Amino acid sequence: MAREAVNWQFDEVAHAGAEHLDADYVEAYDTKSPTDWSEDVATMLELGVGATSTVVDLGAGTGTFARAIAPHVARVIAVDVSEPMVARMRARGVEAVCAGFLSYEHEGDPPDAVFTRNALHHLPDFWKAIALERVARLLRPGGVLRLRDLVYSFQPDEADAAIASWLAAAPDDPTQGWTTEQLAEHVRSEHSTFTWLLEPMLEAVGFEIRDRWLSPNRIYGAYTCVRS
Ligand SMILES: C[S@@+](CC[C@H](N)C(=O)[O-])C[C@H]1O[C@@H](n2cnc3c(N)ncnc32)[C@H](O)[C@@H]1O
Repeated sequence: MAREAVNWQFDEVAHAGAEHLDADYVEAYDTKSPTDWSEDVATMLELGVGATSTVVDLGAGTGTFARAIAPHVARVIAVDVSEPMVARMRARGVEAVCAGFLSYEHEGDPPDAVFTRNALHHLPDFWKAIALERVARLLRPGGVLRLRDLVYSFQPDEADAAIASWLAAAPDDPTQGWTTEQLAEHVRSEHSTFTWLLEPMLEAVGFEIRDRWLSPNRIYGAYTCVRS
């Protein structure tokens, strides 16, 4: 007798962060997390992204990067698992799709570039590798991946000191940014990984890392990669 198929897929909505599914939080998101996207836009343009390009933003949030890059390219598709985030983007005229790293199915010509910021850490490492492989397959050969996230560039025995000094520098007022308690929650329950685990994942799925920036506090990273 044939066995029933067992679902082993990751539930992206269940791990998207409860706050990202909350319409009030989404409403206040841009005030709490204002971002200057000029460096990301410039990096993409330097790598040949331009007037005929298609760009996909994965985990796009309220779509502020999508809106920043839109004047420079032919098409931007902003993808997020959160329905309130997608509703917010659509209300602003952004082409938005409700899907995740593991479920997004692209329609149209293969994208020239994929952007993602502060979203991949919602996936545990096994699923990060699966997601990155999907991104590599999504892009045309020579396509660009710009990946920014909380990625730890310290060794395990340095974790206590690195995390403690990051938390100590956080604001008390939640409207001014992520508080100590919120950052601690990130460390406890989300899946930020080490640079020395993420980088082999990128290479294993066919990316060449062209540029890497790591924050002095060893908590944030930005990678510019090209699909071989
Ligand atoms: C911290 S916000 C970052 C939003 C935006 N990229 C930015 O930098 O402002 C993380 C976003 O990732 C989305 N997200 C979480 N898990 C995801 C997944 N598996 N696939 C796609 N998006 C996801 C959340 O809904 C949320 O909008």
